[in-house]
Amino acid sequence: MRVLFATSEVAPLIKTGGLADVSGALPAALRAIGVDVRVLVPGYTPVLAQMPQHTVVARFTGLPGFPAARLLSGETENDVPLLVLDCPELYQREGGPYQDIDGQDWPDNALRFGLLSKVAAILGSSASPLDWHPDLVHCNDWQTGLAPAYLRFAHGVPSVMTVHNLAFQGIFPPETLHELHLPPSCFGIDGVEYYGNLSFLKAGLFYADHLTTVSPNYAREIQQEPLGFGMQGLLSLRRDSLTGILNGIDMHEWDPAKDAYLAHQYSVAHMVGKTTNKEALQRRMGLNLGAEVPLLGVVSRFTHQKGLDLLLEIVPRLVGFPVQLAMLGTGDAQLQNTARELLLRYPGQIAVHIGFSEELSHMIEAGADMFVMPSRFEPCGLNQLYSQRYGTPPIVHATGGLVDSVVDASAQTLKDATASGFVFSGMSADNLFGAIRRAVELYREAPKWKALCKNCMGKDFSWQRSAEAYRDVYLKVLKQLP
Ligand code: ADP
Ligand code: GLC
Repeated sequence: MRVLFATSEVAPLIKTGGLADVSGALPAALRAIGVDVRVLVPGYTPVLAQMPQHTVVARFTGLPGFPAARLLSGETENDVPLLVLDCPELYQREGGPYQDIDGQDWPDNALRFGLLSKVAAILGSSASPLDWHPDLVHCNDWQTGLAPAYLRFAHGVPSVMTVHNLAFQGIFPPETLHELHLPPSCFGIDGVEYYGNLSFLKAGLFYADHLTTVSPNYAREIQQEPLGFGMQGLLSLRRDSLTGILNGIDMHEWDPAKDAYLAHQYSVAHMVGKTTNKEALQRRMGLNLGAEVPLLGVVSRFTHQKGLDLLLEIVPRLVGFPVQLAMLGTGDAQLQNTARELLLRYPGQIAVHIGFSEELSHMIEAGADMFVMPSRFEPCGLNQLYSQRYGTPPIVHATGGLVDSVVDASAQTLKDATASGFVFSGMSADNLFGAIRRAVELYREAPKWKALCKNCMGKDFSWQRSAEAYRDVYLKVLKQLP
């Protein structure tokens, strides 16, 4: 079975969040179980810089509405064949994949991701210039949402659409329809139209043959208000074609026993190394040294979704426990400022690094005692998976994939050795505070805490099981499974 995996980011070449991690790891896991996957990604400046060796395998000129483009072939870090869509006019610029350096969306995003979708569809149709013909195109989030529509109009192969985050929908004014040369007939409720505008995500949700999302719980949540973000009607209508598959993690990239970013590698049998990492993190981030005080870690985009406003609100109460807090993230300016103010108010107890740092994210996962993730909604979430693998129990809000991946520490779950963190229901500062207090109390009971960390590290979050579930979806779509 041949699958084209179309995505707007892929780690380690280009990453803003979890989609890159998934695009970096899932295709490799699929190849390991016999699916011939190739990844299609735009040729942003950092992507091209990291693939000096490449071959031009196709040229696209005269696509109505789009500038000329080329397809380069390369390979990802884990040997997955890569198809890079090279169109300097659209992708080679200073800034991120979606926004400029000031955080403004690129004004031509419709064209940029329209082309990505269009090329994905061409490769999945009889017009493809390649010798390699996919049986199916797997699209991810709004950036490739138009591909299922283009495929349908071109009588191409079937498509699967994965929702990583329903909050981002790729909505553009109605005239975009003509700019992207979509047939006017598709501009309706049974098509790409969304309250008078063109929605890339809606196109994918409507035209794809099958939909998936990144956890079973989120698959249920998005069929209703409020987490359906306006798409709940369509999603519940399509519920028989919607599958929730929990993300896995790259077990090599995130392995405390081999992690080159760590001061000291460790494993469940040699946990002493974790204390060395705590000290290294305290030094690196300017926190007071000492093993006693529990250290809370955060690695996150600073957005409303992630609920960090609640955490920042309770910092003055938390420091009294006492605890330390190490935060890494970037995003919303107001949240960044509040975090900086707290850093100045509680030096040595609060540390904040604004920016993106792969190294520091690994150091926090390893060096913190507990990991805080109070997301308002969370399709899957990867950091709580990484933190469990690193023996750093997560404290999470009961939403989305956090529910599917963290088992609350109760008398019962501690006894049966399934506990792996702290889950609170009801999105409020008090409830978050209560969960952190529970964690700190358990932390003081060393043998119980040790057992909790051990439970975390023993969990299997490898991609294999999820890859098998995706393969089953592909087979079902291709009518090779009931
Ligand atoms: P989302 O995709 O919604 O941001 P996930 O938990 O699925 O959330 O994935 C986030 C990914 O991005 C993780 O790999 C996380 O470590 C990483 N990440 C987020 N912010 C930063 C940062 N400031 N520096 C380094 N890595 C980060
Ligand atoms: C999105 C979601 C996150 C998920 C990631 C990868 O960015 O916000 O929960 O883990 O995609 O699927």
